[in-house]
Amino acid sequence: MTPQQIHLVQAIRDVVRREERAERTAELVAEALRPFLAVPDLLREDQRTGDPGSYTQHVLHVEPDGSFSVVALVWLPGQRTPVHDHVAWCVTGVYEGVEHEQRFTVHDGSSLVPTQQVTNPAGDVCGFAPPGDIHLVRNACTTKAISLHVYGADIGTLGTSVRRTYDLPVRAAV
Ligand SMILES: [Fe+2]
Repeated sequence: MTPQQIHLVQAIRDVVRREERAERTAELVAEALRPFLAVPDLLREDQRTGDPGSYTQHVLHVEPDGSFSVVALVWLPGQRTPVHDHVAWCVTGVYEGVEHEQRFTVHDGSSLVPTQQVTNPAGDVCGFAPPGDIHLVRNACTTKAISLHVYGADIGTLGTSVRRTYDLPVRAAV
């Protein structure tokens, strides 16, 4: 880890050890993450590398007790996630570029209903916790986008924060 990453992990650890309810933990971690989005040397060059095949996850830290993980996601232009939800609370912060998030609810277990849309430029943070955390995230700019994600889970073991993906038709918003 870079020295700045060590500082970031310590700030997150201080919050997670308070053992608040998940939504509150996510809010506090978001505030802890926010100032690091303006640190220019936070990531090593290899942690800023994208892959033309898919958005790329670089694991920066997994807490030894599995209570949280920190990753950098690198998105090349046009790259996106599937519609998905999460195993635990999540915090995202845009480090470079612009990301767009489309949130959904599931209708009758058979279709997706779009709800809020959020466009997040560099510096924006967002924290949330299941349930009601179904979304799709994409790079919304013409250059590389990088975001930092903190998950209340052991990504070293799980490999991903995704609980499940939703391959359902999207119906008009009501
Ligand atoms: Fe997500």
